[in-house]
Amino acid sequence: MDLTTRYLGLDLESPLMPGASPLADSLDVVRRLEDAGASAIVMRSLFEEQITREMTGSIYAVETSADSFAEATSYFPKASEFSLGPDEYLDQLRGICEAVRVPVIASLNGITVRGWLDYALQIQEAGADALELNVYYLPTDPAEESVAVERRTLDIVRAVKGALRIPVAVKLSPFFSALPHFVRELERAGADGIILFNRFYQPDIDAENLEAEPRLHLSDPSELLLRLRWLAIVSPGLRIPLAISGGVHSGLDTVKSLMAGASAVQVVSALLKKGPEHLRTMRIEMERWMEEHEYESLAQMRGNMSLARCPDPNAFSRANYMRILQSWRVGP
Ligand SMILES: Cc1cc2nc3c(=O)[nH]c(=O)nc-3n(C[C@H](O)[C@H](O)[C@H](O)COP(=O)(O)O)c2cc1C
Repeated sequence: MDLTTRYLGLDLESPLMPGASPLADSLDVVRRLEDAGASAIVMRSLFEEQITREMTGSIYAVETSADSFAEATSYFPKASEFSLGPDEYLDQLRGICEAVRVPVIASLNGITVRGWLDYALQIQEAGADALELNVYYLPTDPAEESVAVERRTLDIVRAVKGALRIPVAVKLSPFFSALPHFVRELERAGADGIILFNRFYQPDIDAENLEAEPRLHLSDPSELLLRLRWLAIVSPGLRIPLAISGGVHSGLDTVKSLMAGASAVQVVSALLKKGPEHLRTMRIEMERWMEEHEYESLAQMRGNMSLARCPDPNAFSRANYMRILQSWRVGP
């Protein structure tokens, strides 16, 4: 069975890989992931603020107003709260590159085009085969227009692509008002791939103590549906490959992701819950499903549930919406 795929210009043995997470913090776990069939290793992100603090002693390259600056600095995590500082990150990257034969993808998370981006070059020099950019930005300013929010990511992509020779993928949140257009803009800006989607961690409210409660919930497969929809909409006609991240827990989830148009499938929560070896189980489940349904390669199924042949995806979606709402009847 041919499970090979091409993602970010890399020829991979299968689409299955761990997503950015603490899974790559330990070389032992990284080796177990490779043994379980990981076709690439994705490292957790290093943050702009970490790099800027290391370079300048302050988390901001440019000071904002004195009050908000002092406050932002006070709630930013201490250097000791990060698993990897900037130097350790490069050491870990070199260690992973030596420990495994599969490609290694590093990750940077930031929101400005400033000096911290020079660090991307060091990541390339340390041996990364590709880089993920995660622009975790919450538009909280009512004066900021959606175009400016998109431009932020586009500018970062252009700056990084202008400096690096390794491929660059962009990990997006689902909260863009015109995602298909934005993805095309990212392609034009030079992105080599797109990951759908980043998760925004949503704090709860502690009503007794009037505090925000940051919580990390691992995903379940219900999160897959949002990704499948947007993969199916965005993938037709796109030249760069898409990866899915979020809610992939089984071999069947992987099959659906590929059918919707993904070229690579990133898994985190399922591996944190069940261990790195679950990746092998997912691969076996996928192969069994493909065998039973007489698929011989990923190429035969990739995108066959995308909206490529749908003449009017919007009308299709509205029709399904109406039908689903009519499917509930209440009372005798
Ligand atoms: C503990 C933990 C740490 C994570 N760290 C990062 C990170 O550093 N950078 C990043 O882009 N995503 C990070 N993620 C998000 C994952 O890469 C992934 O996008 C998300 O968990 C959805 O995939 P899943 O449903 O397979 O968990 C993290 C997720 C978890 C659970």
